[in-house]
Amino acid sequence: MQFVDAHGAHIPQIGLGTMTLKDDVCVKAVKAALDMGYTHLDTAAFYANEREVGEGLRAWGGKREDVFVTTKVRENNLSPENFNKSLDQSLTNLKLPYVDLLLIHWNNKDIPFSVSVAALCAAKKDGRAKHVGVANFTTTMLDEAWAVTTEPLVCNQIEMHPYINQDTVVAASEKHGMAVVAYCPIARGKLEGGDALERIGEAHGKSAAQVSLRYLIQRGAVPIPRTATPAHQKANLDVFDFALSDAEMAEVKKLNAANMRLITPPQSPVWDIP
Ligand SMILES: NC(=O)c1ccc[n+]([C@@H]2O[C@H](COP(=O)([O-])OP(=O)(O)OC[C@H]3O[C@@H](n4cnc5c(N)ncnc54)[C@H](OP(=O)(O)O)[C@@H]3O)[C@@H](O)[C@H]2O)c1
Repeated sequence: MQFVDAHGAHIPQIGLGTMTLKDDVCVKAVKAALDMGYTHLDTAAFYANEREVGEGLRAWGGKREDVFVTTKVRENNLSPENFNKSLDQSLTNLKLPYVDLLLIHWNNKDIPFSVSVAALCAAKKDGRAKHVGVANFTTTMLDEAWAVTTEPLVCNQIEMHPYINQDTVVAASEKHGMAVVAYCPIARGKLEGGDALERIGEAHGKSAAQVSLRYLIQRGAVPIPRTATPAHQKANLDVFDFALSDAEMAEVKKLNAANMRLITPPQSPVWDIP
């Protein structure tokens, strides 16, 4: 496993996404992933599966401190009181005393960063989170959050895959020394279709999904692909034994022009223009 280091956080460069994984499917998927060598799990209060993620972790039976666990507080819970309730409920669900990384899942424009980021920082100071960060923040939001934070924000978790150009927000995140965690890293499975990814994959004996993940890794990001399918879990981990050439990276980068943004809920900010 490779790692991305940011402000003291040592983040395994592939994580298991868990959105939509429920009940026993989620428990089994988490256990299977940890059994095969995953060391990074991504959940959120909103996913309503923290209980199952915690159960999968315990069913695996390895050392808690060998796994990097992320959860998130939703935008409707960013007032200090609600923030603490949400986080405490997450920890109760996970049956863990702390998470490795706690994120503001989406900003709430009605709550100033001086309030929401302070609640985030308090969770680090009192030990409920080893590290804190944000998700879905734009360049302006990053600057505003950094202006008031008392703790380093170690990552910005954003949509990133071959079909979207996130250069502006990636550069802003890197300017602040933050890791970029890539969600929807295989574009929710919409990669098939005979384009460059499959052709490049064939040259390496890899699939389009693996090329997508490898592209993100070589860009320095931390992809968190989601799957409960054992063969896909294994494939998504097997992306450290090949490298894309500069020409191949450039070819995949060209696909950014599609500007296919998959995640645009009502609480989305005005996204950065690439
Ligand atoms: N912060 C945020 O606002 C935010 C937003 C969205 C997502 N996320 C996080 O990011 C994670 C990943 O994003 P996502 O779940 O939306 O999308 P994703 O990981 O890009 O795509 C998941 C889809 O890809 C398929 N897949 C996985 N591995 C594959 C492989 N090797 N070959 C072919 N197909 C494969 C899965 O199908 P099978 O199940 O059949 O394998 C599933 O349908 C989420 O689970 C969540 O943890 C965060």
